[in-house]
Order: sequence, then structure tokens, then C-alpha cells
Amino acid sequence: QSPESQSILEAHQWLAKLYHHLLRNSKEGKAAYQYLIDRGFTEETIKKYQIGFSPNSKDFVVTFLEKKGFHPQTMVKAGLLSANDHGEYTDRFRGRVIFPLRNHLGKTVAFAGRAMGEQEPKYLNSPETELFHKNRILYNFDLARASIRKQKTVVLFEGYVDVISADQAGVHNGVGTMGTSISTNQANLLKRYADKVIVCYDGDRPGVEAASKAAKLLKSVGCETFIARVPDGLDPDDFIQKHGGDRFQREVIETSDTYMSFMMSYLKRDYNLQIEGDRITYIEKILQEVAMLDRAVEREHYLNEIASEFEMSIDTLKEEIQRIRGQKP
Ligand code: CTP
Ligand code: MN
Ligand code: MN
Ligand code: MN
Ligand code: MN
Repeated sequence: QSPESQSILEAHQWLAKLYHHLLRNSKEGKAAYQYLIDRGFTEETIKKYQIGFSPNSKDFVVTFLEKKGFHPQTMVKAGLLSANDHGEYTDRFRGRVIFPLRNHLGKTVAFAGRAMGEQEPKYLNSPETELFHKNRILYNFDLARASIRKQKTVVLFEGYVDVISADQAGVHNGVGTMGTSISTNQANLLKRYADKVIVCYDGDRPGVEAASKAAKLLKSVGCETFIARVPDGLDPDDFIQKHGGDRFQREVIETSDTYMSFMMSYLKRDYNLQIEGDRITYIEKILQEVAMLDRAVEREHYLNEIASEFEMSIDTLKEEIQRIRGQKP
């Protein structure tokens, strides 16, 4: 590790402590603390995740880092400070609630700053650095790892708050993709640690769209994949705040769909099965999915289901599957 990376790493550990301290002990931090309490975070959770606050001051953090001997230019590179045209430095996250982003060893390597009002962007994240590659890190993997191993299952969320809120609700094996797309790298990591992945993205349209993409990728790297449905366009945290953690576990996590049953209803949304042309396109699409399944019994199971739903002969469907599988690279 280069001396610069070492310095960036140290700065993050100091700042995580400082931001957390300021959330609890500064006058300005009071509103941020209250914001978190109003959102349903407990005192214990705030501590566990070292959630913090960056005061709306131009030089507080700049002075702090200088006193500790960090070079402002390195801190700019780290994404902790911004520099303006006049060569002045300011705290990049000022005025925001701070979520430290930890790597898989539990070291803070980046931050996400949540606006407390309607300012844009809602979340300001650290840029990519030598220590922080967004598509290689899964949020909360360090804390969830033991529970993932024990349950052989991991639950995948979009948002920081979803992961934290689920943990509070008793779902301790949750990790986050920090936005809606999952990389092959992250999928392979999950595959190494868990037999089963439950995708639990937001219930809004972009969330469902992203869930289908994530599920496809996870399936393609060989994960046993399930998709949880959060009703009414809510996200997992919204659902927990509204209905409580018990209902979240029972009605969302434990009743998640298998990959194929999710795909069937997901694809049906786009087609009017009363229309012959649509019906045929739908059947073709779903057969593509069936053809991807590794196990012959599983393929047979769904082919039977499709055959009876559309009153087709299983032999025709099997032929089609053979054809598609023959084309596979
Ligand atoms: N995200 C981001 N930058 C944004 C918006 C979103 O990085 N401007 C990422 C964050 O990791 C966020 C996730 O995408 O947690 C999901 O976004 P969204 O559903 O919009 O936010 P929530 O997690 O629901 O956040 P909150 O509950 O605080 O509104
Ligand atoms: Mn528990
Ligand atoms: Mn979302
Ligand atoms: Mn959300
Ligand atoms: Mn949310």
C-alpha cells in the first residue's frame, strides 16, 4: 500500500470518529440526531454503524485534518475535501448526515452523506479511490458476514438505510449494492459466501427493474436466487417503518419468490396474454429463462407448468428448449 493510501485510510478513521462525535455532542448535530431518531434509528444502531454528522462549516474539518498533519491535496484526492478556484479547501460532506462505508475488513474507506432536506443529490458519495471501488464493495459485508455464513443466505438491498433498518428488524445478513446495479464481482463474492441470495430491492418500478437484472446476473453465476417483493411501491425501510420488523420478515423475506415465479409474473406485466402474438412472445421469453436452468428436473417442472397454462404439448416445449440450449455458447 502506498504512503498516500495509508494516509487516506487514516484520515477516514479519524473523520468517522469525528463525525460520529459531532452527531452526538455538537449543537448543530442535535437536529441530525433527531432526524435519525425520527427515521426510526435506535441509539444502539447509530453507535453500531458509527453514523455521524458533518457541520455546515467551511473550515471545521479542514482545520481538523490539517492539525492531524494530512496534506489538503491528498484529502482532495481522497474525496474528503473539495478545492475551489481560489485554492480554498472545504469539507465535501458539510451539512450532511454521514454513513461511513466500510470495506470487508471493517475499515472505513469512504463516506456517504445524506442531505437532511430536499437538497440534491440526496446522497453524496466518496469518489472512487485506490481504497474504494464501488463495484467491489458490498455495504455492511463486514458486519453481516457471520450471519451470512450461519444462515448460508444473504439478503441484498439497494440502500444503506434498508440494510441498517433490516438489521434492526432482525435481518442481520443484509448487504447493500449502494444503488441499483450489481457487478459480476459482487455477484461472485456473494456466491462464495452464501448458497442462497434474496434480492430485496425497492418496490418502485426502477427497483423491480433492477431486481430482475440483479437476479439474472446472480443466477448466471450459479446462486440460488430469490426475489422479495416489497408491496405498494415501498422500499424495505419504508415497509419496516410502516408495518414493523416482524411483518417484514414474515411477509417480505420469508415469502420471497423463486427466480422463475418472479420472472413469470415480471414478464407477464409487459404482455397481454389474451392476444395471440403477445402470448407467443411471452412463451418464447419464458422458455429462454427455462433453458438457462441447470437442472433437468427444474426445467421439466416449469415446462409442465407452461404446457398446462397454455395448453401446449410438453414435447413441443422440450424441442424448443433443446434448440435454445444447443445455441448456448
Ligand atoms: N444513491 C446514491 N446517490 C443518490 C441516490 C441514491 O448513491 N443520489 C444510492 C444510495 O446507496 C442509496 C441507494 O442508491 O442508498 C438507493 O437509493 P434510494 O432508494 O433513492 O434511497 P434510499 O436508500 O431509499 O434512501 P432514503 O431512505 O434515505 O431516502
Ligand atoms: Mn436479532
Ligand atoms: Mn430506490
Ligand atoms: Mn429506497
Ligand atoms: Mn428509503
